[in-house]
Amino acid sequence: MGLIVYTGGTFDLFHAGHVNFLERCAQFGDVIVSLNTDEFIQEYKGKPPIMTYEERKAVLQACTWVSSVIPNVGGADSTTAIELVEPDVIIIGSDWAKKNYYKQMGFTQEWLDERDIALMYIPYTQGISTTELKKRIAER
Ligand code: CTP
Repeated sequence: MGLIVYTGGTFDLFHAGHVNFLERCAQFGDVIVSLNTDEFIQEYKGKPPIMTYEERKAVLQACTWVSSVIPNVGGADSTTAIELVEPDVIIIGSDWAKKNYYKQMGFTQEWLDERDIALMYIPYTQGISTTELKKRIAER
């Protein structure tokens, strides 16, 4: 469809849920992934990711559905990265529909409206996640 799609995330232990998500994002246009830095993940989750920023970035760049990967430079304030990308749409998994995504990202609906940016949820893939994979490994 030729839109610029912004999505943010950690994408640790890249898995089939991530692939499904990114494939659906790519149906709308060029997908720019704003990737959380190791420092922000440590601060936000209290522990570092399994894969470093460079490792997570390398895998995302090799994914056919991703156009480019940028660092989520603002951390909890994603507006810095969004203003660099100037997307038409921000897409996230529907797991976020039950949480306060606006608070998480540091913007308001008014802020999006002023910039003509749409916000879209797409269905979350059940049964797989980074957390689930860590559990499976721990149970081995
Ligand atoms: N996502 C998805 N389906 C999954 C896992 C992730 O659609 N099974 C989406 C999320 O909604 C988000 C993006 O992929 O928009 C990046 O997710 P991320 O938080 O990095 O991965 P998770 O596997 O959800 O990680 P965690 O278990 O640590 O929350």
